[in-house]
Amino acid sequence: MDIRGETRRAPYAALPEARPDDGPEGRAYTVSAEFYDLLHARSYHRHAQALAGPAAAARVGIVEVGAGTGLVTDVLIGASCVPVHAVEPAAAMRAVLLSRLHPPAGAFVGDRVTVHSCSAVELSLSGQADLAVCLRMASCLPPHERRALWHSLADLLVPAGLLFLDRPPARLPVRPTRRSLGEVRLGMDTYRGQVTARAEHDRIRCDYAYLVCRQGRVLRRAQETFLLWPLTRQALGAELADAGLVLEGGLPPDLVRVRRAIAPGLPHRPA
Ligand SMILES: C[S@@+](CC[C@H](N)C(=O)[O-])C[C@H]1O[C@@H](n2cnc3c(N)ncnc32)[C@H](O)[C@@H]1O
Repeated sequence: MDIRGETRRAPYAALPEARPDDGPEGRAYTVSAEFYDLLHARSYHRHAQALAGPAAAARVGIVEVGAGTGLVTDVLIGASCVPVHAVEPAAAMRAVLLSRLHPPAGAFVGDRVTVHSCSAVELSLSGQADLAVCLRMASCLPPHERRALWHSLADLLVPAGLLFLDRPPARLPVRPTRRSLGEVRLGMDTYRGQVTARAEHDRIRCDYAYLVCRQGRVLRRAQETFLLWPLTRQALGAELADAGLVLEGGLPPDLVRVRRAIAPGLPHRPA
């Protein structure tokens, strides 16, 4: 290891502490990160592909909040030619994201991408993006944090800049529902996942369960719970408008396009 360059830098002890990893956001996904790409990549791919066009059209910068393991970040970088900011507070997800952006073997794909280890509301990227992306993240925030998120996103977008979201669940489930995350074979092992969603007060409780099996025998199980807050389209539109963001037509599949108003109280109207 070459440490000669270190003498001109501040000693590690003088650097600010990596606070975000200490909070609940920083510690989340410690279980799910391992299984995320294996079991989620296929279903999230279509969302990612739908963003290739908007990414190619970006001329200022792209910010992806809640970048996770980088499934979408990869597409945003590949399709664009502007700086990309990936915001990811969870250390476990960020570890996969950084590995994806800088594979030890092969070309360095991340020379335009900066990873921010903080939450969206702690960002200071005022006016640095004409495209913001926030997938499968906004509904994970309690209402007051979600409203703050819209203001942060409005702040980082230039006037008329675009924001793409996935459509939040509109209501609580009437009864518990179970959905398979599929099954992936890797060598001798099979990885399986399922999620059970049920109403819990005003939230949707999602219990993710993972199973690793070898020749019919369970090697290990893992489980992690996430909470989602439902939001109707009307309430979403009202919250966004309060932050100076205008809900435009929904886009298949399940994506919502939002535009930053040109000036407060002056919604952008596409020609
Ligand atoms: C379900 S994952 C989605 C990851 C990625 N967007 C995707 O579609 O694959 C939600 C991500 O949002 C991140 N997240 C949660 N709260 C956040 C916040 N306040 N600001 C930024 N990211 C946040 C989580 O750490 C997690 O990686």
